[in-house]
Formats: sequence, C-alpha cells, structure tokens
Amino acid sequence: SWTMLNIVEDAVAAVREQVGDGRAICALSGGVDSAVAAAIVQRAIGDRLTCVFVDHGLLRKGEAEQVERDFVAATGVKLRVVDAAERFLKALSGVVDPEEKRKIIGREFIRVFEDEQRAILADGPADFLVQGTLYPDVVESGGGTGTANIKSHHNVGGLPDDLRFQLVEPLRTLFKDEVRRAGEELGLPSAMVWRQPFPGPGLGIRIIGEVTAERLDILREADAIAREELSRAGLDRDIWQCPVVLLADVRSVGVQGDGRTYGHPVVLRPVTSEDAMTADWARVPYDVLSRISTRITNEVREINRVVVDVTSKPPGTIEWE
Ligand code: XMP
Repeated sequence: SWTMLNIVEDAVAAVREQVGDGRAICALSGGVDSAVAAAIVQRAIGDRLTCVFVDHGLLRKGEAEQVERDFVAATGVKLRVVDAAERFLKALSGVVDPEEKRKIIGREFIRVFEDEQRAILADGPADFLVQGTLYPDVVESGGGTGTANIKSHHNVGGLPDDLRFQLVEPLRTLFKDEVRRAGEELGLPSAMVWRQPFPGPGLGIRIIGEVTAERLDILREADAIAREELSRAGLDRDIWQCPVVLLADVRSVGVQGDGRTYGHPVVLRPVTSEDAMTADWARVPYDVLSRISTRITNEVREINRVVVDVTSKPPGTIEWE
C-alpha cells in the first residue's frame, strides 16, 4: 500500500543516514521482527550488513530452511549460518528444569554469536548491531534511546556485548501489524511474516523432561501436523499461538491393531490473546481437533494420545515451561 511503501522507504533512508558507509551485524531468529529489520537494513546498506543465523536445533519443522533459503532468496541478505544443534544438545544434556534450560540456551547462543561477531570483525570494523525492537518494547522499557539492549532477559538476542555497538532499530516506531505489512511490502516469505509468537528457547521448553535429538524429532512432526491442520481450517488469525508440548517423561498405554502400545502424550495448547499477558484457551472446533489427533497418532509412532489444555492465563501460562 501507499503508506506502507512510505514507511519502508523512510526506514531505509534513516538507516542509510545512521550507518553511513559503516558495517552492521544482525542476528536472525527465524521470527518476523529480526527478519524485517534485517531486510530494511539490507536495502539501505546492501552487503555491508552481515546476518548471522545460529541454528540451535530447537526450531520447528521447516523454519531453518525458511531463513537459510527463502529469506535469503527474497532479500539477497549476506548470511552466515552456524549449525550449532550438537552443541546445544550437549549443553542441555540431563537438564529438566525450565529456567535452567532457558539460561543454558541463552548462554550458548551468546557464545556462538560472539564467535561469529569476532569472525566478522576480523574482516573489518563493524560498529552497528541491528535489532528488531518494536514500539511497544520501547514504551515498556521507558523509551530510552538505543544504546542498550531491551528485553535481554526474555529474548535470545540479548547480548552483553551490545554496548560496544551502536544499535540500529528500524522498527522502533512500529507496531506488530505494521511490521508484518512492511514484511509483505519487502517480499518476505509469508510463513515468516505471519509466524505466530514462538519463544526464543524454542522446542527446548516444549519437551517436558530432558531435551534429546529423538524427542525433538517427535515433537517437530507432531507440531507440524497441528500447524498444518489449524492453517487448513483457516484458524491462523483467530489463534494467538498453539504450543504443542511433548510429555516426554510421561508414558501412556494405547492400542493399535492387535498390539498394546506404550508411548507418550502430546498436549495441544491453542490460546487466544491480545498481548500474551492474559490468554484464554481457544475453542477450536471439535472436527479440527479430531483431525489433528487422528493424524498425530497415526503418523507419529511414538505418540499414542493427544490432549487439549483448557486452562486460561492466569492461572496457567501459555507455555508449559
Ligand atoms: P507465558 O508462557 O509466560 O508466555 O504465558 C507468554 C509469551 O511469551 C513467550 N515466551 C517466551 N518468549 N523467550 C521468548 O522469547 C522465552 O523464554 C519465553 N517464554 C515464553 C510465549 O511463547 C508466549 O507468547
């Protein structure tokens, strides 16, 4: 649209002015905010932006490819990909406590990203760090200008070294819906533009119990089926997000053919919300739930039971961990 075009062009011009002929670094998470921020900065300074995607192995099915292939094809961004899945799995080995998982994932992310930063800086100085900070984040944090990192406690992008850089925050004046429209204007993959909220620690906090490669594979398959059926039913815009949670340490008895099975349950947690501060469980039509349940139990061998979480927030949180 006309106004969106102006917003994108103004943001591009502002970045060009701020960065001059300097170089910038941006961490991509797979989410819409960092993607749109990076695409704007790429338009402004081209190859003087280097993006880094740390694949921690905790994303959902197809999301790493979305960044590495589709986003790069759409924007021409210069991207360094680090496949750090093994490293994260090792660090998470034996860990079941949710806050400990978050701490470990955040710490490992920072270490990997800092290594990449050093490699980029070895090619020449870079003074700018791009962040996808939105207007509501600015307000929430008191509206200071961009030299420190906002919400570092919550998002994987929170880096202690940020103070060495000047922050470039092209989305600072925008709300989420404007960011999505800017993403469309910039031609980003629509799965990215319309992605529902997804936590930085990813599937790591949706496996109740220890995180292992096998459990991640099981959850990825179940989650992909739930997302596919909810989308097919046209519910993406009605549902704020729908975590799928693997109760990896719980086993349930089932029956299949002539045999008894002893597998695991998954929980569907579809919620409606305005801002994630409060939420209600989404009244997903029974026939949609039925399709999800049938497909998951048929297609994911290790899962023999699908349950629906009908708790509002409060008292329940949206995530299980
Ligand atoms: P809860 O579970 O607290 O979640 O009701 C509220 C919203 O925040 C997301 N969430 C996270 N996002 N890092 C993130 O970047 C996290 O550690 C994290 N924990 C929860 C959650 O998906 C929901 O949208």
